[in-house]
Amino acid sequence: MAGELEGRVALVTGSAGGIGRATAVMLAAMGADLVLLDLKRDTLKDVVHEIEAMGRRAHAIPIDIQDRAGVRAAIAEAETVLGGIGILVNNAGVGASGPGELENIGDADLDRMFGVHVMGAFVAAQAVVPGMKARKWGRIVNIASNRGQVGFTDGSHYSGAKGALIAMAKSWAKELAPFGILANAVAPGVVRTAMTEEHGMDAIVEEASWNLMNRWAEPEEIAATVAFLVSGAGSYYTGQLMCPNGGDPIVGI
Ligand SMILES: NC(=O)c1ccc[n+]([C@@H]2O[C@H](COP(=O)([O-])OP(=O)(O)OC[C@H]3O[C@@H](n4cnc5c(N)ncnc54)[C@H](O)[C@@H]3O)[C@@H](O)[C@H]2O)c1
Repeated sequence: MAGELEGRVALVTGSAGGIGRATAVMLAAMGADLVLLDLKRDTLKDVVHEIEAMGRRAHAIPIDIQDRAGVRAAIAEAETVLGGIGILVNNAGVGASGPGELENIGDADLDRMFGVHVMGAFVAAQAVVPGMKARKWGRIVNIASNRGQVGFTDGSHYSGAKGALIAMAKSWAKELAPFGILANAVAPGVVRTAMTEEHGMDAIVEEASWNLMNRWAEPEEIAATVAFLVSGAGSYYTGQLMCPNGGDPIVGI
């Protein structure tokens, strides 16, 4: 797959984090230039350097994805620098930061959960789709979760936002297929990243024990699914949900 994304520009949101960074680096290894969007300005600089060291171009957008006007303007600017974005990976995400029982979820947590995952993906897609349509080529991948498939005790706001990302990918697949734009979603099981490490290794090990392989995924194993979907090998996939989840017995097998 090396070189097959030569001439393509990819936007990966949340690209300072585990899955996003691994995805950005993998797409760069396939030849893409990268637009990197994340809250974490300093880590983003490291990712820019890593990608430039690979001989690809990288443009950082250090911003809160909930800042819709700012995101629209920054994506437009990035396209003037690197060229039209052909690949969008909606990956930025947050876990629950407060109580997760339905009646106790606070307004700020609820707003952030849907603001980052759902509104963030919408705004990024709205910003890049007109250009994709004009060029008659595009790939959109929404990073959902197995929690968006089967629900999540004490986390219905996370689960609901992830379910929305799956439904949005299916809707965009229907709406955008005539323009050569394919849209899919990826629903990982447990992945070892900052998001899961926040809850401690015991929680990761326990969740990993629920799947058939009895282990967590590394971020690169999720990035590989995204890479497949945006590569030539993924050219007949749209409106699909890919489930790299270690054979989670409830979903995806
Ligand atoms: N780790 C898992 O087990 C797992 C499982 C299923 C799905 N996911 C999803 O994968 C995606 C990536 O998560 P990860 O595990 O790599 O976690 P992570 O915390 O390592 O990465 C998430 C990134 O998103 C960024 N981000 C958060 N809020 C933002 C905002 N408002 N604006 C811009 N950037 C923001 C963070 O700064 C961070 O760099 C998320 O959507 C997450 O829900 C993760």
